[in-house]
Amino acid sequence: MECFGLRNKIAIVTGGNRGIGKAIALALGKAGADVVLAARNTKLLEKTVEEIRAAGGEAFGIKCDLGREKDILSLVENVVHRYGKIDILVNNAGISPFVKRSEEVEKEEWEDVLRVNLTAPFLLCRQAGRVMIENGWGRIINIASIGGVIGLPRQIAYCVAKAGLIEMTKVLALEWTRKHQITVNAVAPGYVATDLTEGMRSSEVISNNLLRRIPAGRFGEAHEIVGAVLYFASEDAGYTTGAVLTVDGGWTAA
Ligand SMILES: NC(=O)c1ccc[n+]([C@@H]2O[C@H](COP(=O)([O-])OP(=O)(O)OC[C@H]3O[C@@H](n4cnc5c(N)ncnc54)[C@H](OP(=O)(O)O)[C@@H]3O)[C@@H](O)[C@H]2O)c1
Repeated sequence: MECFGLRNKIAIVTGGNRGIGKAIALALGKAGADVVLAARNTKLLEKTVEEIRAAGGEAFGIKCDLGREKDILSLVENVVHRYGKIDILVNNAGISPFVKRSEEVEKEEWEDVLRVNLTAPFLLCRQAGRVMIENGWGRIINIASIGGVIGLPRQIAYCVAKAGLIEMTKVLALEWTRKHQITVNAVAPGYVATDLTEGMRSSEVISNNLLRRIPAGRFGEAHEIVGAVLYFASEDAGYTTGAVLTVDGGWTAA
């Protein structure tokens, strides 16, 4: 397991206080990285930091609203001030606040989703990327979605943002890997049992419709996304860049 060790690595996980991000943060902590969690809910941040420390890892939480550029800039400044570097950036935080027909979507709703799911990851890639370039090494992992690979009806802003995130992954890989040893990859989960999908999973009709399309016959669990992230974060994944790994119970195989 040595090749997956992350000792002395500094990692930022956005939305690391619950759901998929929390599972990722716990795993990075266990692998030896110092993990910085960035999200809005400070109680959950504190709780997750405690859990990571209880498991033998090191972590701290920074309150950050990714909808605000100044929060993003000060997050990166704060981490660099504390550690002097950033090795791993996991752009995990995301929102999916509505499921509705495209003709009903308001401009503000569209902009809110794009701001958190696409603009924030770009700003973080740019800011953390500058630090990684200086350092000559980096791992960026963007948590996209199968919604960025295929179309999901009634989720236009979400799908467009996630497709944009996948494209961003590829462009940054082309720009930064050869010259700076920074790999940029994406994980595209299918439907995972977290707060994000609670609404859909709690409706029997929607839930059954979704389950019919998942060859694995069930929703995923947050911990099932972690292995892909650990691989992309590892030293040994230096030859993997610009890749998109679907972890979706087989949905996109159809
Ligand atoms: N669950 C799925 O089925 C699924 C499928 C495909 C892709 N994904 C993607 O996986 C990622 C994690 O999803 P999840 O299911 O774990 O969602 P979740 O349980 O709803 O958690 C979302 C996380 O994002 C953070 N967040 C949301 N808005 C934020 C903001 N403005 N500023 C800072 N942090 C913010 C939340 O923390 P605070 O609320 O404390 O800020 C929370 O930690 C997302 O990018 C999502 O699109 C999920």
